[in-house]
Amino acid sequence: IDRPRVLSGIQPTAGSFHLGNYLGAVRQWVSLQETHDAFYMVVDLHAITVPQDPEELRRSSRLAAAQLLAAGLDPERCTLFVQSHVPEHAQLAWVMNCFTGFGEASRMTQFKDKSAKQGAEGTTVGLFTYPILQIADILLYHADQVPVGEDQRQHIELTRDVAARFNGRFGETFTVPAPYILKETAKIYDLQDPAVKMSKSASSPKGIIWLLDEPKKTAKKVRSAVTDTDTVVRYDPEAKPGVSNLLGIYSTLTGRSVAELEQAYAGKGYGALKTELAEVVTDWVTPFRTRTEEYMGDPETLDAILAKGAEKARAVAAETLAEVYDKVGF
Ligand code: ADP
Ligand code: NA
Repeated sequence: IDRPRVLSGIQPTAGSFHLGNYLGAVRQWVSLQETHDAFYMVVDLHAITVPQDPEELRRSSRLAAAQLLAAGLDPERCTLFVQSHVPEHAQLAWVMNCFTGFGEASRMTQFKDKSAKQGAEGTTVGLFTYPILQIADILLYHADQVPVGEDQRQHIELTRDVAARFNGRFGETFTVPAPYILKETAKIYDLQDPAVKMSKSASSPKGIIWLLDEPKKTAKKVRSAVTDTDTVVRYDPEAKPGVSNLLGIYSTLTGRSVAELEQAYAGKGYGALKTELAEVVTDWVTPFRTRTEEYMGDPETLDAILAKGAEKARAVAAETLAEVYDKVGF
């Protein structure tokens, strides 16, 4: 196969993915597996850069994988694995640590945000070198493109610099990857405060749609989304952020264009839009929930899928690591 290779990771989270994770990232991963040679991983090594409960982390990693499968990742068409199952990530990360300048690593703005949250005592060296583990994640697989949100662009630039430096010193070793910035149109906003994005850390309980919540609860949240005092259903993110957010969600979940939806709701007002969108969302989350529960209720199947994914990933990763070890003199 001569398809470009993509690699992307998602953090294991204690609970459910939210609608922003699905529409902004996971959904695009699902379509990329059709056009690309796709590697997707649950990044549990990254998760321990901040404190984790061991049993909870173990469960979260499996729950993340179960949700990715429920969302449509097909282990026959992509390589899905858990990062810690492939020891080459940690091994290459050490080498990459030694080829990254302390100064250039210190310029990563995401570290500044994350360490501010952890405080001086709570900030680990792991949190600081997180982007260098990310370099290893990407370079191990010779990824051509890395689907990420805008906030990760700086880390991809660092990966490119370090890869090019290594290649310059030791000859062509790594593919220099390009960022594949996920579509901004897929950005989902908080249902109660459409000025901010839907986010597990920043949203109020009523502003966020958890994919594994009771569908009834979800429908209620959609029906009570904040709109504005006008009644015209029109896509206008500046003047009508709430309605535009709902139209964006509606359009992405159904494949109907925004223009078509505007026409369909002409003269009907916000109530009809919210009621029908609540149905669209529950129609999507209901089978998603069932599939996730099926994977979580069948650990043998889930483990077998992840073991096979790790085996496929390792075949590539081990080869890259062997070449790197040889070149640096091991
Ligand atoms: P959160 O912002 O809730 O902490 P993460 O940072 O774990 O979510 O995001 C995981 C993935 O989901 C990332 O690729 C991110 O770009 C995407 N994502 C998160 N929130 C949104 C959103 N509101 N709209 C679109 N994509 C999102
Ligand atoms: Na985030």
